[in-house]
Amino acid sequence: MKNIAKKKKMYIKTYGCQMNVYDSDKMLDLMIPHGFVEEKDFKDADLIILNTCHIREKAAEKVYSDLGRIVPIKKKAMKSGRKIKIVVAGCVAQAEGREIIKRQPAVDIVVGPQTYHKLPEFLFNSDKVSKSVVHTEFPVESKFDEIKINRILNNPVSFLSIQEGCNKFCSFCVVPYTRGAEYSRPGLDVLEEAKSLIKKGAKEICLLGQNVNAYHGQVGNKLWTLSRLIKEIAEIEGLRRIRYTTSHPSDMDEELIKAHGEVGALMPYLHLPVQSGDDDVLKSMNRKYTVETYKTIIEKLRTVCPDIALSSDFIVGFPGESDKAFDKTIKLVKEINFSQAYSFKYSRRPGTPGSIMKRQVSEKIKSKRLLALQKILNDQQLFFNMSFLNSKLEVLLERKGKYKNQLLGRSPYMQAIHVTDPSIALGQFIDVTIAEATKNSLRGNLIAINKRGMN
Ligand code: SAH
Ligand code: SF4
Ligand code: F3S
Repeated sequence: MKNIAKKKKMYIKTYGCQMNVYDSDKMLDLMIPHGFVEEKDFKDADLIILNTCHIREKAAEKVYSDLGRIVPIKKKAMKSGRKIKIVVAGCVAQAEGREIIKRQPAVDIVVGPQTYHKLPEFLFNSDKVSKSVVHTEFPVESKFDEIKINRILNNPVSFLSIQEGCNKFCSFCVVPYTRGAEYSRPGLDVLEEAKSLIKKGAKEICLLGQNVNAYHGQVGNKLWTLSRLIKEIAEIEGLRRIRYTTSHPSDMDEELIKAHGEVGALMPYLHLPVQSGDDDVLKSMNRKYTVETYKTIIEKLRTVCPDIALSSDFIVGFPGESDKAFDKTIKLVKEINFSQAYSFKYSRRPGTPGSIMKRQVSEKIKSKRLLALQKILNDQQLFFNMSFLNSKLEVLLERKGKYKNQLLGRSPYMQAIHVTDPSIALGQFIDVTIAEATKNSLRGNLIAINKRGMN
């Protein structure tokens, strides 16, 4: 009891992509040996970490509005002798560095995505100095060496970062600046982490990277591609599902496409951002593929894996996007038929080539186009889900639901499914009949608990 009373509370809020989710888990793992426990309410925390995203203006501004709510809590606590530390981590930290402290002097530490493994050390030092500090160097290898140790797992689905950074420099995107140059972790390190996750109960692993299919991890004097790595991981006993995200169309090599037909554990789902259906826009975005190339990749994927569900990202209103160009995006969406997708209004990011391009599109037109695109994407998602009504799907149960005996999981196609039954438990694979389908989720009735998935 005495020990528990001494524990410090840590609150962490994650913005942005799955890489940030992975990093937040790691920050928690790093702090636990130093006497911290996770706290869900920032008002009760001794340490508040905001793990931020810089991808669009709104995401970055959200951090400052959240800080606006957190800082008064810190000031109030100080008056009663309680110390709260505020850390801004992630991509806004990397991009804005000292600017954050200028805008919010109550922030104690600013730490970029490549240096957060030193967080315990930074926090310990900041106890000794009263000044705020900024750490935004880029020593990638040492970060992965540091964080591969203590991995805690409380979910049968686990993210595993295998690649970080990006060399592609799409003209709209901040990632190459915030995450740095492309780096792939050595193959055997990844394999070791995968084995350890599976030993701890992971049944599904999602391999992560900003450009995950550009993976080329060193093993001896060879380089493993993503397809090779997937095949190695698929051999580990106890693993049932593999996914990977986010891929770039230009790195969808033949072997990786073939793997979708050969590797049983590789799920029939792929998120492959196309961004636009117009070749001139793609060129000016510096995407380095054409609409035709994208369509060919999809065709090949559907040949080896006919039921593959496809997801994508779209940007509307990129500079120079005419009505005609936008229509081509709509045409592509209709041709491919996505199971789900993310779509965004173009956001001008300082320092990127797109932000200074001529023929910027007005907010009004961006909003109009986004609405039109989302209408079609939403319909496609709903039709996709409805096509499973009365059929059988396998679900891996990942989370508790809102109601008694309700658990949530995902189908092989990434659909969220909720099931209410007193005999089911987290971590199980179950077969269900789909009784209800909406755009965002399915409701399943239990047919059987699938024993194959139980360790
Ligand atoms: N590496 C991935 C995407 C990473 S960012 C890829 O190459 O596809 C996730 C998504 O955010 C992008 O696919 C893009 O659709 C969107 N995005 C990135 N920068 C943006 C910007 N400036 N404005 C609007 N959306 C943007
Ligand atoms: Fe950004 Fe393009 Fe790299 Fe994706 S490939 S992270 S969109 S620069
Ligand atoms: Fe955002 Fe950084 Fe991910 S900018 S999308 S958190 S890589």
